[in-house]
Amino acid sequence: MGTWFPKFYDPLMKPLEKMGFDKVRKELIAKAEGRVLEVGSGTGANFRHYRKAVEVDATEPNPLMLKQSIKQAEKSYVPVVLYPAKAEELPFPDKTFDTVTATLVFCTIPEPEKALQEIRRVCKQGAKILLFEHVRMNGKLAGKTQDLLTPIWKKAFDGCHLNRNTLELVKRSGLIVLDVTSYSGGLFLVIECVNG
Ligand SMILES: C[S@@+](CC[C@H](N)C(=O)[O-])C[C@H]1O[C@@H](n2cnc3c(N)ncnc32)[C@H](O)[C@@H]1O
Repeated sequence: MGTWFPKFYDPLMKPLEKMGFDKVRKELIAKAEGRVLEVGSGTGANFRHYRKAVEVDATEPNPLMLKQSIKQAEKSYVPVVLYPAKAEELPFPDKTFDTVTATLVFCTIPEPEKALQEIRRVCKQGAKILLFEHVRMNGKLAGKTQDLLTPIWKKAFDGCHLNRNTLELVKRSGLIVLDVTSYSGGLFLVIECVNG
């Protein structure tokens, strides 16, 4: 894990948040209800958008990201508890959560299939899984360009896979996909699922 990425993450994201990310976060996170798990919560960009959650358990393996998110957790409308944990090894019992959220995370998780199985394990039956992710695009040229850029991109952006097909991984995990909203020609997807 690099140190520059956590340090510059918020300033780097600021223009994107203004261009629409913050609106997408707000609309998606507002749907989170009951006991909520957020995986890879980073600097806590989603925390202020929780309204209907009873409690948010937020996991983040990078200590520098986690440290920066403390302020956001303190300002949050609902209680947020922070855990230094990877999505592949969630420190929670089976069937704990009513909702799981993850934004811009599945591109970076080293073992996304394992993370999805962990999410299914800690979710109640019928729990909501709300994702906002960048993915490999369907267009041939766009997808190939993402493939070519990925090795350099991964080095520059802390392990981020520019070409990950997260929707396909989600479908294969056994989660039931209810709705997919596409942004920027399919580069970003909001994926809403339930734990079947
Ligand atoms: C691009 S940042 C997104 C942060 C935040 N979710 C957001 O929307 O701004 C990716 C995050 O995934 C985290 N991450 C990396 N590996 C992870 C893993 N195995 N499990 C959970 N999160 C991980 C990183 O530490 C980083 O905070």
